Amino acid sequence: MGKDVIVACDFSSKQAVMEFLDKFTDEKPYVKIGMELFYAEGPSIVREIKERGHKIFLDLKLCDIPNTVKKAMSVLSGLDVDMTNLHASGTIEMMQAAVEGLTRPDGTRPLLIAVTQLTSTSEERMREQLLIDKPLDEVVMHYAANAAAAGLDGVVCSPLESGKVHSRCGSDFLTVTPGVRFADGDVGDQVRVTTPAKAKELGSDYIVVGRPITAAADPVEAYRRCVSEFVG
Ligand code: C5P
Repeated sequence: MGKDVIVACDFSSKQAVMEFLDKFTDEKPYVKIGMELFYAEGPSIVREIKERGHKIFLDLKLCDIPNTVKKAMSVLSGLDVDMTNLHASGTIEMMQAAVEGLTRPDGTRPLLIAVTQLTSTSEERMREQLLIDKPLDEVVMHYAANAAAAGLDGVVCSPLESGKVHSRCGSDFLTVTPGVRFADGDVGDQVRVTTPAKAKELGSDYIVVGRPITAAADPVEAYRRCVSEFVG
């Protein structure tokens, strides 16, 4: 599976995302569509970006009873996205149902990636609010192993965790990693960041990059810089 840069298109309208994508004339970046854009514009935004020739990671982080997730995943599969995700906290049974729902009659399906613990959940909040007493990194690795056991393709994690995830779940188990910044760029609200080159060195399979590209003075140049550092 080839390494790739996924551009987090965290825009709130079709107009804004299309204006951004219009800047790319020579390449077709892999696009991440999140809840904000999807809920604002509906499934048609996925079809339209797909028709322009982009691969799509639909980041909706599903979590519900297995039957509901299975049926929802079957709808997303019909949208012909390339990658989508769910919360591993929904249990192995929910993740297995998601794989079933996502699988098309011909046996193909989009990649399915699990969110382990959100990066906004600290160890303290996990212990005090969720009553999970284990260390955060142990929980993350356990949820990753659950995702692998359920037949998922990988997890969203920090590039700093990619090595650990690969050694626990196998080198083919994908690590999709946000928190990427250029060495000379703004960190913004991300806490633990790595450069695209460092993410490559740490073994990330995909990096998810938003503002360093979307808010750059020259987004195409910033995208190319990411690709050359990460893919080489
Ligand atoms: O703009 P920035 O590069 O920080 O965007 C990163 C993207 O990855 C955003 O869409 C953000 O929601 C997502 N993400 C993240 N950290 C996670 C999971 C997802 O930054 N743990």
